[in-house]
Amino acid sequence: MTTRLAQVMYGLDRVKQGAAPLVDHAAALRDRLWWRKAARAEAQASALPPAPSFGPPREFLATLRADVLAHTAVNHPLLGRVAHVPFVREDYRVFGLQHYALVGCFTTYLELLLLAAPDSDAKQWIAKVLIDEYGEGSEGKDHAELYREFLRATGVAEGEELEVPLHADVTGFIAEHLRICREEPFLVGLGALGPGHEWSIPKMFDPIIRGLRRARFEAREIQYFTLHVEQDQDHGSWLEEALVLYADTPQAQAEIHRGAMLSLAARVRFWSGVQDKIVRWRQPRNVHLRTPSRREGHNQANELTLREWRVRMRALTQARGRYA
Ligand SMILES: [Fe+2]
Ligand SMILES: [Fe+2]
Repeated sequence: MTTRLAQVMYGLDRVKQGAAPLVDHAAALRDRLWWRKAARAEAQASALPPAPSFGPPREFLATLRADVLAHTAVNHPLLGRVAHVPFVREDYRVFGLQHYALVGCFTTYLELLLLAAPDSDAKQWIAKVLIDEYGEGSEGKDHAELYREFLRATGVAEGEELEVPLHADVTGFIAEHLRICREEPFLVGLGALGPGHEWSIPKMFDPIIRGLRRARFEAREIQYFTLHVEQDQDHGSWLEEALVLYADTPQAQAEIHRGAMLSLAARVRFWSGVQDKIVRWRQPRNVHLRTPSRREGHNQANELTLREWRVRMRALTQARGRYA
């Protein structure tokens, strides 16, 4: 009987072993479907303005720069609030814990773009930006490290930044940019990282720096922000040099424009998400919270911590490698 039982157990084990790749495959498929669904929802949510009519590359880029600087993402109500309402260190603690999730990902987007770049001219401009992001212009500290110094100054304990639930529009921002850099044409990615990030950041950080100074942070504590206002002027011009190499057809201009607008649409949702978190922190018992930018309220279901999000991203990346 014992032998019979052992045989049955052995048989079951063999079946399980045989089924393991199938289970693995099903899990990978489920993850890929999740990714696609999230990306589709993001794309549908962003009603993008049409690209301006075709013109000479420098003229097109000048118009695009003006559009970026006038965009709601760059003039979001939260930025107006931090500049004019006396936020305290605890507000910036909540703000920083959400914003930090984005900071470590920018080099990943650039690395993906570097791989996708069609020639060494474009690669050189992208690589110049990457070297700064790795810490060349900030005493060898990469930008995530600089941001952690700011987090400590707001009262965040070491490692706490990995354990705080992130708003769905924070992780959504990262997912959207990974999608853009992996799945959209190269110029859409360049539009998202050049005009979408490097052109917009100095203007977005300006009111934040004003608010941080009012909250009495010291210059060394807010170096992440002040450094970007300076560095991103250069990064924006370098990526503009890459853009001008390609922006000479209607399709190229439409792709660059699309990338910038997709990125800024995700940024609007990101700032609204950070605002939700700050409002929630200030009024923890109010279950009917609404903000002007999100009348449907803040849904906290399915929020992931940065640690959980990274595990999910790693699994998705591996699945992409295995089943691509
Ligand atoms: Fe940076
Ligand atoms: Fe930059």
